Amino acid sequence: MKKQVVLYKKLSPLLMARLHEQAEVTLIENLDADGLARLRDALPRAHGLLGASLKLDAELLDLAPDLEAIASVSVGVDNYDIDYLTERRILLSNTPDVLTETTADTGFALILATARRVVELANMVREGRWQRNLGPAHFGSDVHGKTLGIIGMGRIGEALAQRGHFGFGMPVIYHSHSPKPAVEQRFNAQYRSLGELLQQADFICLTLPLTAQTERLIGTEEFALMRPQSIFINISRGKVVDEAALTEALRAGQIRAAGLDVFEREPLDLDSPLLQMDNVVATPHMGSATHETREAMARCAVENLLAALAGERPANLVNVRAWKA
Ligand code: DGY
Repeated sequence: MKKQVVLYKKLSPLLMARLHEQAEVTLIENLDADGLARLRDALPRAHGLLGASLKLDAELLDLAPDLEAIASVSVGVDNYDIDYLTERRILLSNTPDVLTETTADTGFALILATARRVVELANMVREGRWQRNLGPAHFGSDVHGKTLGIIGMGRIGEALAQRGHFGFGMPVIYHSHSPKPAVEQRFNAQYRSLGELLQQADFICLTLPLTAQTERLIGTEEFALMRPQSIFINISRGKVVDEAALTEALRAGQIRAAGLDVFEREPLDLDSPLLQMDNVVATPHMGSATHETREAMARCAVENLLAALAGERPANLVNVRAWKA
């Protein structure tokens, strides 16, 4: 008998067909109140779940006694209680690698947009406020040759370092839980303590996962170490930053600008003070959002799920202890 899969994310026809070959599929297209009620109804029959952007806590998952596997269409796994899943021997998989380059592109888009004031100046043209040649009040700052500081030297951090080093001639400094000699060799990168990095980098880019250790890693004290010409970029998770402290640092001129793809609460409230500031470029958690990459992520998640439901170890298993158990 085919296993029951609940999808809470729409897939391309090709991937739907692939899933249908192996499983009975229930699709919940929208996670509005109605969709959540349908999800709750479907959970008691589910062997597999596939989707993204939904906090799947014990309260929900206790409704799914037969659940064997969850395939998250994301690299981040902060929406899951990994200890709970491991205890229940539910295999959790994610989609690393396929989104690395695209997410690093987003990081660089934010670096360029903030430093060169792209959004602010493009709006000036669109709104008919471009009446004479630009003067110093509208100048930006250079990107090439400036110091790129990366906090969290995982795959995406490395892809940022590659762009900075080879593309823009930027000295690269980084902070992560341990030094990475291979990265240092490839990009001539230098390891720094967090405090040193915050004091020395022109661009401070967050690329680390949200965990109990990284939650609110960057707050008032950390912003105080940055320089007035520093530009802060976050493409990881909003909760790694104390957003009120970031707002205050921008208001006080402690940093020059911020490029933010992620926020403490998403979608970002329209009345967020961040949206009142010309030196903030805010994007809607679009790090991996290209046609090619989102399809590749979905394909990866489908293969992870089908492997798990067939009793095989998924290629991107997160909670390895659940497999060993
Ligand atoms: C990821 O893959 O984790 C992206 O941030 C989308 O959630």
